[in-house]
Amino acid sequence: MKLAIGCDHGGFLLKESVKKFLDERGVEYKDFGCYDEKSVDYPLVAEEVANSIVSGEFERGLLFCGTGIGISISANKVKGIRAACCSDCFSAKATRQHNDANILCMGGRVVGPGLANDMVSLFLDTPFLGGRHQRRIDLIKDIEDRN
Ligand code: RB5
Repeated sequence: MKLAIGCDHGGFLLKESVKKFLDERGVEYKDFGCYDEKSVDYPLVAEEVANSIVSGEFERGLLFCGTGIGISISANKVKGIRAACCSDCFSAKATRQHNDANILCMGGRVVGPGLANDMVSLFLDTPFLGGRHQRRIDLIKDIEDRN
């Protein structure tokens, strides 16, 4: 699986740390920036990464900001994106199983590097369960279509 990843200044250091983990695991990714700790506006990065996923160029993504919240709210404005802001392993696994999340968001000021790597592993390795959960994903799509 090839990942699209991105961050703002608040998530930069955590993104760099997770990149090392992805390199060790041999996971391919494209880094959409930012590339240092200079202040940037997270909605712009979120939109670029989200578009690269809904276009089919990448299957899933990782986004990082200070809390993980602003960048997840932004990504979720793009139709077809299900971005989950997580800070525990149970949620990172469950959001794949139940929500078929296609972006995992984390906060560089919230989550440590070891926990982030564990959450990324679960996000990459856990399949969507389908069944009743697919019905709920379809209902989410209906909301997108109505609004
Ligand atoms: C940037 O200071 C900060 O607001 C951002 O990284 C994020 O936490 C927003 O939700």
